[in-house]
Amino acid sequence: MFKLNEDYLKLPGSYLFSNIAKKVSAYQAEHPEKEIIRLGIGDVTQPLCPAVIDALHKAVDEMASAETFHGYAPDLGYEFLRSAMAQNDFQARGCDIAADEIFISDGAKSDSANIQEIFDKNCKIAVCDPVYPVYVDSNVMAGRTGEYNFDTEVWSNVIYMPCTAENGFAPELPAEIPDLIYLCFPNNPTGATISKEKLQEWVDYANKVGAVIIYDAAYEAYISDSDVPHSVFECEGARTCAIELRSFSKNAGFTGTRLGATVIPHDLKVKTNTYDGYKDVEVHSLWARRHGTKYNGAPYIIQKAGEAVYSAEGQKQIKEQVAYYMKNASYILEGLKEAGYTVSGGKNAPYIWLRTPDNMTSWEFFDYLLDKAGVVGTPGSGFGPSGEHYFRLTAFGSYENTVKAVDRIKAL
Ligand code: MLT
Repeated sequence: MFKLNEDYLKLPGSYLFSNIAKKVSAYQAEHPEKEIIRLGIGDVTQPLCPAVIDALHKAVDEMASAETFHGYAPDLGYEFLRSAMAQNDFQARGCDIAADEIFISDGAKSDSANIQEIFDKNCKIAVCDPVYPVYVDSNVMAGRTGEYNFDTEVWSNVIYMPCTAENGFAPELPAEIPDLIYLCFPNNPTGATISKEKLQEWVDYANKVGAVIIYDAAYEAYISDSDVPHSVFECEGARTCAIELRSFSKNAGFTGTRLGATVIPHDLKVKTNTYDGYKDVEVHSLWARRHGTKYNGAPYIIQKAGEAVYSAEGQKQIKEQVAYYMKNASYILEGLKEAGYTVSGGKNAPYIWLRTPDNMTSWEFFDYLLDKAGVVGTPGSGFGPSGEHYFRLTAFGSYENTVKAVDRIKAL
């Protein structure tokens, strides 16, 4: 008789954003007359910029002729995109990253879920609390997190690093030594940032204890402060302890077209028992093996669209788009402050993190806001126990809807 992977069955409830989508559909079905504004999931609303659209059209035309047609993409990504990323995202910022250390993928969500697969099942993970749920859920599926406590809402074998108002939503080095440390800055969900000096402390710590930092830089395009690093590889020593996840979703609007990358330096190695003895093995080689076996590459047309992001026009146009969303962020931030809310984030990040009023739980506030203002946000407790009594709004709506939503909240 076949058996199921029982680790999947340990997951409580459904994926946070699927759960919210179901609740909102049910509410809309009951109240068809209500206009609902969605500021929940961080999904973009502005169209792909003209430089990207032109590149897509050209690439589609290439697929129409035998001379320029492209079949399977190279496993690890086309050289043109890997080089563009190496130069623009890393070398231009003084980071020592080469094109062959960049693996192109269909997005940072799948990479952040899959990367754990190349590490031992007994590796202990450390996560911020609150945290993007994919990091934890994927480790649950892999059987790495122990048992779930329904009262405290924590896993027995996960190191939680609380990010609270008291510590400025910045994690502290954990007392217990982890093997894999997930960091995301600018942070999802709190919108908090990390200074280069602080990130350097994490890199030094990881090198000292022999841990790997899995650094999610999906929101780096939203950084405006000069002392906030755009990449973990701006820190000295990161090549021997860090992996970075990159996304085209938030900087260039590819949530529907899907494109991302994972960066693994060749210097990230660990002594491992292999078929020909005990020796240093590059983490890069395992991810390359995984990619080759399980993945046939992001589509050519999408990788051409990604390349266009790095053209002069592409860069100008995506900066305008980021500025558009950041105008929303500041409207939300200022509007909620005026309405008396305690708010943070929204300065170097497209997320605004607010304390729920009257000590409401995060889900109580979700229901209240949906019912009284027709606005959807994300309950902070969905990101972890330290998110309780908090709520996240995204700046990815249209400006008109953002203004309408904030004005409705202010009028409550
Ligand atoms: C979020 O809302 O947290 C993100 O949009 C989810 C994602 O990027 O997968």
